[in-house]
Amino acid sequence: MVIDSSAHIYKKVFNGKRVLVTGDTGFKGSWLSLWLHELGADVVGYALPPEWHEDHFNMIELDRTIHHVQGDIRDFSSLNKVFQEFQPEFLFHLAAQALVKRSYDEPKLTIDTNIGGSTNILEAIRLTSSLRSVIYVTSDKCYKNKEWMWGYRENDELGGYDPYSASKASAEIIFSAYMNSFFKDRKGFGAASVRAGNVIGGGDWSIDRIVPDSIKALQSRHPIVIRNPNATRPWQHVLEPLSGYLLLAAKLYQSPVEFSGAMNFGPRNDSFHTVQSLVERIVAFWGKGELQINVDPNAPHESTLLHLNCDKAEQILDWHPRWDFGQAVDETTHWYKEVDSGKQALQISKQQIKEYTGELND
Ligand SMILES: NC(=O)c1ccc[n+]([C@@H]2O[C@H](COP(=O)([O-])OP(=O)(O)OC[C@H]3O[C@@H](n4cnc5c(N)ncnc54)[C@H](O)[C@@H]3O)[C@@H](O)[C@H]2O)c1
Repeated sequence: MVIDSSAHIYKKVFNGKRVLVTGDTGFKGSWLSLWLHELGADVVGYALPPEWHEDHFNMIELDRTIHHVQGDIRDFSSLNKVFQEFQPEFLFHLAAQALVKRSYDEPKLTIDTNIGGSTNILEAIRLTSSLRSVIYVTSDKCYKNKEWMWGYRENDELGGYDPYSASKASAEIIFSAYMNSFFKDRKGFGAASVRAGNVIGGGDWSIDRIVPDSIKALQSRHPIVIRNPNATRPWQHVLEPLSGYLLLAAKLYQSPVEFSGAMNFGPRNDSFHTVQSLVERIVAFWGKGELQINVDPNAPHESTLLHLNCDKAEQILDWHPRWDFGQAVDETTHWYKEVDSGKQALQISKQQIKEYTGELND
């Protein structure tokens, strides 16, 4: 079968399709749900309420655009009811306790959500025959971090030092067990687990993430306090992995056997920058602001370097990152700056999605 390798595939595949997104009130899920809606999909979201008033979900009033169901993935009967009533053709599973630091404070909640909740998702998939394509989101932190310089490949060893990483590695193992035991031979059905790293973009207000912390400091005219200035991260804009999820979901729909499995979506190697250089770039775009370096000797263990090898996505999916580090940071800061000056968040987000895909969708 010839696979359409251009991003025209997005519109062609998603227009008019029933798509379920778990975690639609979260940072990545709200951007993905808006993007799917723009592609003409009939989107239902399932998640806990948004945590903060300023969250992207609230700012773009996503519940006016898609059908949002408030619910907990740990509650199997409420989750399964949505699957059975909506009969989705596509599923993007993003709901999770997504913060490493919080996993130290609330390990059981993290494990119940990321392992128990994800198992409920797999169980609901098993009972839903309408599904054709599933994207199951874990994390780059599912890999056993060997603190080496090479990028992690999809077949590298899984592991997790902290509860969050361990929960994501476990969610991967359970996914693979369901694939082997129940999904492998299901006709016309494909599923992939996807692993991406730190993402940045407008509308994220999560605690202990460097971009929201920087924006809050800039808005209140306080110095931006950095505790880990030399930590290097593979930064990428939120639209980058989401474009990979969409492309992979579309290809799974067309050719499930060929595309099922695991896939990494990370930035190019030149997007590795320190926390300090990220913050300096945010300040430069914002126009004014100050940095204060304040290393915390009691901070919990944090792995120093982990990056993804994305050869598989590039080779078999023809997926490539589009925005470099500078553009990713500038687009992110632009979003917050525009909203801060009173512009409508929905318009800015739609415009950024268009800008990201524009030339391909024309
Ligand atoms: N943001 C990142 O940098 C990053 C990096 C790697 C992987 N990820 C993964 O991507 C996914 C989305 O991350 P995010 O940054 O959007 O996280 P987020 O914290 O912004 O959103 C999490 C979403 O999950 C929902 N959720 C949490 N617990 C739930 C429960 N028990 N029942 C139902 N819904 C629940 C929340 O309501 C929210 O909609 C997660 O699986 C996360 O682990 C994120």
